[in-house]
Amino acid sequence: MDHFEYLNGELHVEQVAITAIASEVGTPFYCYSTATLERHYKVFTDAFEGTDALVCYSLKSNGNLAIVRTLARQGAGADIVSEGELHRALAAGIPAEKIVFSGVGKERTAMQAALDVGIYQFNVESLPELEALDEVARGAAEQAPVALRINPDVDAGSHHKISTGRREDKFGIPWTEALDAYARAAAMPGIEIVGIDVHIGSQLSSLEPFEAAFRKVADLVEALRAEGHNIRRLDLGGGLGVPYHEDDEVPPLPANYGKMIKDVAGHLECQILLEPGRLISANAGVLVSSVIYLKHSGNRTFVIVDGAMNDLLRPALYDAYHRILPVKEPNADAPREPVDVVGPICETGDTFAQDRALPPLNPGDLVVFCTAGAYGAVMSSTYNGRPLVPEVLVNGDRYAVVRRRQSLDEMLDAEDVPDWLPAAG
Ligand code: LLP
Repeated sequence: MDHFEYLNGELHVEQVAITAIASEVGTPFYCYSTATLERHYKVFTDAFEGTDALVCYSLKSNGNLAIVRTLARQGAGADIVSEGELHRALAAGIPAEKIVFSGVGKERTAMQAALDVGIYQFNVESLPELEALDEVARGAAEQAPVALRINPDVDAGSHHKISTGRREDKFGIPWTEALDAYARAAAMPGIEIVGIDVHIGSQLSSLEPFEAAFRKVADLVEALRAEGHNIRRLDLGGGLGVPYHEDDEVPPLPANYGKMIKDVAGHLECQILLEPGRLISANAGVLVSSVIYLKHSGNRTFVIVDGAMNDLLRPALYDAYHRILPVKEPNADAPREPVDVVGPICETGDTFAQDRALPPLNPGDLVVFCTAGAYGAVMSSTYNGRPLVPEVLVNGDRYAVVRRRQSLDEMLDAEDVPDWLPAAG
């Protein structure tokens, strides 16, 4: 459930009309709903009631400070993958002791920074990374709390670019090599083994692959304990899918996901760590855009909008589907004609939708791309000289710009022309 609804013929975010925000900040912009974020976080945490669980929101899905602060106030921890995300999580008020550090290529400087602030756990993905962390920790006369990320060789059945648990993927230590890796870790003075970690992919639409992976991990916990390792935390990653399509099958409910985890891992009496990203942020955000032109070409109609693939990359990168809604509520009997909704960027891939049946749209009309709160703003760029767009957070009848639109000059700020290139003329 979200809080994007038509009221008096106009799409609102909670109690705020999108047109009111658009007239202040211009388009395109991202717009997020506090109530939706809080609701998703609650539904997810409720699924683990009665369990010792720590929900570490995955910042990569949406790391805006105001979003992360909203979740921090609900008690969320953070799953981070870089020193930049560590900086963000701390700045947003997530305590270090609720932060886990994932990622296949952590640099020593980032390890050091994370050790310095005392993060809860490093999820280590290879022996070379383990050796580097051991060295960094010994240098600081510390022990780094570590879970090894295991690759269970399970196909998540998601888009191939976001499936991460197959043997051929770059992630994790093959589960067949786990016992050796733990033996190596146990011999390293800078490493304290605290748990085991797994993450098989994102936007999973069924519980089966999760369950297959978690069963392998649960078996490993027993095998590792039998060898004397003190495995007390089970980090089960993120990955629960959300509905993007009008007629999507509804992905598994968090409650059923929680129940499955209790069934598979409850007897191990580990603390359960979870790293949801999309489930919390995706349906809490939309990208708002204006129609610039209608173009009829051959037998096609192109609706050219001012948002583009640099603002929302998912359709171009993954052929992802995002629902498109006009901000002005269409008449129920308005004709739906198939159109292509495209951005202004000079690539055919800058297409949000093809042959999408939409009610009539005209230049100046506002549309929203739904389910854009996750992997939207965070994946944007300035390609084609397009400034980063604003992000707006709504809370009841209030809203605030939580990232302002980048100015044309700010886009040039980090660049310099060397002195062997004098100004032309
Ligand atoms: N934990 C780890 C170790 C991850 O790699 C990820 C996502 C998550 C947690 C959060 O997964 P979520 O709950 O959001 O599915 N840009 C792609 C998605 C990439 C996901 C990368 N890893 C997209 O737009 O679909």
